[in-house]
Amino acid sequence: MTLSNAIEPPIPSGYKILTIGHESLRKPSQDVSEDSLGSENLHQLIEGMRLTLKAHPGVGLAAPQVGVNFNIFITRVPKSCAERYLLCKETPLQTWINPRYEVLDTAELICGESCLSVPGYVGKVSRPREIEVIALDETGREFSEKLVGWNARVFLHEYDHLTGRIYIDKVLSDERGNKEIYKEEVWKDLTERKKKEGDHHWLERHNLRS
Ligand code: NI
Repeated sequence: MTLSNAIEPPIPSGYKILTIGHESLRKPSQDVSEDSLGSENLHQLIEGMRLTLKAHPGVGLAAPQVGVNFNIFITRVPKSCAERYLLCKETPLQTWINPRYEVLDTAELICGESCLSVPGYVGKVSRPREIEVIALDETGREFSEKLVGWNARVFLHEYDHLTGRIYIDKVLSDERGNKEIYKEEVWKDLTERKKKEGDHHWLERHNLRS
């Protein structure tokens, strides 16, 4: 498969986001080849992905979610997230191509995660506290970054998409062995209630600001 035959032209608000059950979400992706870096096809795909993410409330979008099984994803962390979560920095729209990472701090943080490919749900997932990432930008330039807390989580969630994994595979279980996945509105009510009650311990354990 090449990039040119993988890409269908985006609809006006971007690509259609594939939801759970689509095989593209479960296929491991391949690296973008050197000659595709800086190409018009790659540029168009990334532009289409940017358009798509802008039209949705998510903080990241991986190419397999739009049916393209290449190692590409984009992220953007808005101010509203930085205000809501602990260890979370606002970041502009960023493109990550052929990313690799190493865990720097194995301490695990728990937080509610959701995904545009699994609309309407939030699940508790544990992720390492700090990672170091190496990736390429759209022009093929290599860059490296250290990501902490919620920003590491966003990267790792998108990285999982490239390997055919979805966050629901990693949802934690409660003490009775039930998977801790919630309808979005139920999770929202729960976090609001904990804030009202001033349950700082619970909030901190779920990486949420009080
Ligand atoms: Ni996702």
